[in-house]
Amino acid sequence: MAQTGSVIVTGGASGIGFAVAEDLLRQGWRVVVVDLLAENLSRAGAALSAHGDGVRLQQADIADEPRVEALVARIAATFGPLKGVVNCAGIARDVPALETSVALFRKILDVNLIGTFLVAREAAKAMKETGGGSIVNIASISGLKGNLGRSAYGASKGGVVMLTRILAVELAPFGIRVNDVAPGPVETPLVRELLTPETRAGWMRTVPLRRTAAPDEICGAVAFLLDEARSSYVTGQTIAVDGGFTAGGLIGL
Ligand code: NAI
Repeated sequence: MAQTGSVIVTGGASGIGFAVAEDLLRQGWRVVVVDLLAENLSRAGAALSAHGDGVRLQQADIADEPRVEALVARIAATFGPLKGVVNCAGIARDVPALETSVALFRKILDVNLIGTFLVAREAAKAMKETGGGSIVNIASISGLKGNLGRSAYGASKGGVVMLTRILAVELAPFGIRVNDVAPGPVETPLVRELLTPETRAGWMRTVPLRRTAAPDEICGAVAFLLDEARSSYVTGQTIAVDGGFTAGGLIGL
């Protein structure tokens, strides 16, 4: 069924967010791609140009409170009704806890957790006025399991998982559902920079499907959670799209 309404996709100019934006446009959603990096936005804009007026590009830092407040209000007023948000913008580092500075820890929390909260809060204000909607936060398996080198990143994503549950409870009376998707390793610019040959080999030993995902493989779970016709009773949940990682224990000898 063609979707009506608009969806904000943060981090939508690269990797998983870009794949999600493209998929949502194909389903008939109108999409606002929000991203920090101008070069990513111009590449995404060229790739999505066939969708004409159905797509808008906005440069913004999701951790900048006044900027996000103004941006979401403008989107709701001029490109509404706002029916969905995919909180995908994020940053990651693999650093041992003993070498993690407070500045790095704060930076990662600021973008991944506070930025996600801020966009969700502002979008919920708009959705509350127009009969509800769906918020999908991109968490991570590193928010569900203790992975080496991920004290800051894992804590930020664990925070996203709990934030999702609390927002689901608080926003339910307004017809706003809130869920998260927790991907395993996905081939994106972020992961190509993050993984060394050694850590990549380690992941391949612990993911039952023994491979990374393509960004497109995350889109189905996101589209399902945004689609009121299919997921209207689903809120406060985490869907792991992880090749079996969180199900596994000893997966081979
Ligand atoms: P990516 O680096 O390809 O794309 C992330 C996009 O977010 C970039 O375009 C970047 O400019 C944007 N961004 C970063 N900080 C921003 C900010 N402050 N404000 C606005 N935009 C900002 O990364 P990828 O891999 O597509 O990751 C997307 C999300 O998925 C992230 O939240 C990441 O933590 C999560 N994730 C990724 C996994 C992977 O294996 N690639 C696994 C699990 C979760």
